[in-house]
Amino acid sequence: MKILVTGTAGFIGYHLVKNLLDRGDTVVGIDCINDYYDVKLKHARLEDTGIRVAGMEYGKPVYSHSYPNYTFIKLDILDKEQLELCFKTYQFDAVCNLAAQAGVRYSLTNPEVYIDSNIKGFLNILECCRHFKIKHLAYASSSSVYGLNKNMPFNEHNIADHPVSLYAASKKANEMMAHTYSHLFNVRTTGLRFFTVYGPWGRPDMALFIFTKNMLEGKPIEVFNNGNMLRDFTYVDDIVEGIVHVIDNPAEPNPNWDAQNPDPATSKAPFRIFNIGRGAPISLLGFVEEIESQMHITAKKILLPMQEGDVAETCADVSHLDDALNYKPKTSVHDGVAKFTAWYKEFYNVKYEDLAPVAIGVLTH
Ligand SMILES: NC(=O)c1ccc[n+]([C@@H]2O[C@H](COP(=O)([O-])OP(=O)(O)OC[C@H]3O[C@@H](n4cnc5c(N)ncnc54)[C@H](O)[C@@H]3O)[C@@H](O)[C@H]2O)c1
Repeated sequence: MKILVTGTAGFIGYHLVKNLLDRGDTVVGIDCINDYYDVKLKHARLEDTGIRVAGMEYGKPVYSHSYPNYTFIKLDILDKEQLELCFKTYQFDAVCNLAAQAGVRYSLTNPEVYIDSNIKGFLNILECCRHFKIKHLAYASSSSVYGLNKNMPFNEHNIADHPVSLYAASKKANEMMAHTYSHLFNVRTTGLRFFTVYGPWGRPDMALFIFTKNMLEGKPIEVFNNGNMLRDFTYVDDIVEGIVHVIDNPAEPNPNWDAQNPDPATSKAPFRIFNIGRGAPISLLGFVEEIESQMHITAKKILLPMQEGDVAETCADVSHLDDALNYKPKTSVHDGVAKFTAWYKEFYNVKYEDLAPVAIGVLTH
């Protein structure tokens, strides 16, 4: 297949691209490479897929020197003209939209960028899918759409209409926009509600990265909701495998969809929503303990109250995905954290002698 993946300088996009390239798909990746977090990490991800960052120009394709089937274009999905040119040039079979302004907390202080990238940018993707007759659009939604919902585990067939951050609202809006395009223009769409994704090459604004970094540097870690937050941490390879299953199986209309009792996860239009999560939440303190035991460092914890915009608990019911595509995540937190910490130490070249004296002082063995 020829697939457009957006957000490929990002964490999940980088992993998805590698998976698709390894199995022989032709991939065009786009990303505006924004500076929400360290751009050097985004560049390193691109370099790792053979994309030379030096000399890169906006809108100009860069061909991978390690994957003949990979082309990257620095491009903003808000840029309708360039986006249309990209769709026209490559005639994709499928599109996976991961480009977005991520992060719940950032949306409390920078709401505009969520409307720009996540709403206007997503509209441009939908318009291109419509006009260039794309066979299937898969796109990132988020577990955060469940908001105030406390009906555990979170199930896509339940209504999720009470978001508690603009980030969540933008993801929920994406699902509604996608349904409209599925209904009006027969664009097949699948929205994927990812649950707290972690793993190698992960995002520096997320818990595992911050905890690991601070612990190695001997700095304290801030643990919100006194560590009582329950999170359904999901390993990135499992997320990617789920996305690939979805890309291979485009959405179909649900022939049993009942307008008197409407299922939010399907439709009479070719539209569907899937959770992708492990379905086995652990407490934030339990997660910290896992990192501590693997790195042999006891963290200095600052226990803090819950932050605005956060939800106390997430847990995915993945039966919809499992029933439809026979897939569910499997990686344990133990294995996933081990892979992350190994990557972190190698990538940042952390050696025992470089460890902050405080960190060495609290080594447990
Ligand atoms: N990581 C998670 O735990 C998680 C959970 C739920 C949902 N998601 C969603 O999954 C997707 C990927 O997340 P991620 O963790 O890889 O985040 P990420 O920030 O690492 O990747 C997103 C990429 O999109 C790019 N981008 C942002 N705005 C853009 C624009 N206007 N045009 C082009 N590129 C743009 C960014 O530069 C970034 O490289 C996002 O949509 C995110 O909201 C992630």
